[in-house]
Amino acid sequence: MLIRSHTCGQLRESHVGQTVRLNGWVNSYRDHGGLIFIDLRDRFGLTQIVFDRESGLAADMMASADKLRNEDVIAVEGAVRIRVGGENPKLDTGKVEVVVVALEILNKTDNPPFLPDDLGKLPNEELRLTHRYIDLRRPSMQRILALRHKVYQTTRRYFDENGFLEVETPILYKSTPEGAREFLVPNRHVPGSFYALPQSPQLFKQILMVAGCDRYMQICRCFRDEDPRADRQAEFTQIDLEMSFVRRDQVMATMEGFVRRLWKDVADVDVPPLQRMTYRRAMEDYGIDRPDTRYDLKIKDLSAFAAKMDFAIFKSALEKGKDRPAYNSKKGVVKALRVPGGAEKLTRKITDGYTDFVKTFGAGGVAVVKVIKGEDGQPKLDTGIAKFLEPLKAEFLALLGCQIGDTVLFVADVYAIATKAIGELRQKVARDMGLVPKPGAEGGPWNFLWVVDFPMFERNKETGKWVAMHHPFTSPNDDQMQAFLDADMDDEVTIEGIVSAGYDVVLNGQEIAGGSVRIHDRAVQSKVFALLGMTPEQAKEKFSFLLEALSYGAPPHAGVAFGLDRLIMNFAGTDNIRDVIAFPKTQTGADLMTRAPSPVPENQLRDVHIRSIAPAP
Ligand code: AMO
Repeated sequence: MLIRSHTCGQLRESHVGQTVRLNGWVNSYRDHGGLIFIDLRDRFGLTQIVFDRESGLAADMMASADKLRNEDVIAVEGAVRIRVGGENPKLDTGKVEVVVVALEILNKTDNPPFLPDDLGKLPNEELRLTHRYIDLRRPSMQRILALRHKVYQTTRRYFDENGFLEVETPILYKSTPEGAREFLVPNRHVPGSFYALPQSPQLFKQILMVAGCDRYMQICRCFRDEDPRADRQAEFTQIDLEMSFVRRDQVMATMEGFVRRLWKDVADVDVPPLQRMTYRRAMEDYGIDRPDTRYDLKIKDLSAFAAKMDFAIFKSALEKGKDRPAYNSKKGVVKALRVPGGAEKLTRKITDGYTDFVKTFGAGGVAVVKVIKGEDGQPKLDTGIAKFLEPLKAEFLALLGCQIGDTVLFVADVYAIATKAIGELRQKVARDMGLVPKPGAEGGPWNFLWVVDFPMFERNKETGKWVAMHHPFTSPNDDQMQAFLDADMDDEVTIEGIVSAGYDVVLNGQEIAGGSVRIHDRAVQSKVFALLGMTPEQAKEKFSFLLEALSYGAPPHAGVAFGLDRLIMNFAGTDNIRDVIAFPKTQTGADLMTRAPSPVPENQLRDVHIRSIAPAP
């Protein structure tokens, strides 16, 4: 074989006159009668090669060149010369071409289902995932693979420089309720017993702290049997870390240093110090714990004002949970969103659609009012609930700072529902109003934010049971520890008010990292398990190793995990997580290329003591 002397991205004017060998794929093919031009492609670039009947190329080789087609794999030898047909400024190699003297066909290709270029409309994703090896040849996909590689390298370098040890933790793991549904793997030796694939290495990294590892990091795979979304896969990668003898601020400083280094190395962006926002502030102003602060729409609580209105829907919402303290999930509230310029852009059809939209979050609907110009040139309330606001018009306009041309949207319900619904609505309105800037990777802003002071617990919507907002190993904030230990487990209001030592990094409205100070005290951990509805026996059965480890000299420790795929999405400027994973899964968890998951033969099931109850296909 003509082993390459250079890659297809390497040749420049300085190589002119040299004899070189190139290997690669036929990217494009032009036959000018006696002259055949081919762009030869590999991961490093494209080089124009020329088959010229006049240049003394053997007739059989010219005949072979004649039959070359896109995606054939070839090796050529030839001389580098300045491009006769003029420079191609779009290519790094665009000043030169290689005049072929020898051709070797390494592999003819069948007619490919699509061509791996980024020029036109992409073929549908199903086809691309089925033939991922072709899709990955696209230059944009190659760039993403390289980007990912770079992120791995910077990550390892940064954490190495900061005294972290990279330690691998098991993939075959114990089933532990951490939040998401787990993938199970049957065990051949003990009938009816299963490993679970880890949702994260959470407990192993904590145990590593008890084991004196001090600072751990790992680029690790995590598995969660959840429905995939645009930024969620069932199998994804984390940059996972844990530190001993620290409190919240030390971990946050280490993470910030990492963010700064990563953005500098990968995107040449200087990230300023990250702002901190409390969970409460985030929920009040943005209705979500990962606020997108790139646009300035803020939510306002109008409960006190709405109580003065003679409007039955608001009144009945405010009746709910009347005696509960502010911010309690079951307390009735009225939330408003002022949309500057909305009177014109948000048509009746659009705002009608908002009611259906918020219904998906459990709210009853959206009340609307427009602020238009009256005949006297002054602001006039129009449409929707204008007549109920009219008696309090001046106060209303002043409260929200309304201007002519605004639309104000209201959602009234209990705190948890109203906040969620209006928070989601805020994002939808921003899209409808065209307020969402370009992604950071395309020159838009990079808005980083810390969100801190999360509640420890929330009620699961379906079961009504307490669940840990982060995970069950997250500690109450230092100043909350005693209140938590003293709290009566039935005192719902107090439990809901306990604040954890958790922290998230949010980037342009997406959670890119989450972590917390951990519980290192057995009594505190046992109380958390009890609150989550585990009997001492169940806690022992599931977590005896953790509880034991906590009783044998556990240092105070804290950690965090970054969603690596999401970092790459941001650097690559894509909102589809499948674009940044070499072999991703579809919405239904399928790998279209290998056709996984797939049935297995009966005897293989028998080996692991399993009988399928699935109906025969
Ligand atoms: P958490 O569950 O918040 O924390 O996950 C950490 C980060 O991982 C990313 N992420 C995901 N990315 C893609 N697909 C998913 N299904 C997915 N789920 C999460 C997010 C998230 O911020 N053990 C804790 C971390 C800790 O406390 O140290 C954990 O896993 O970017």
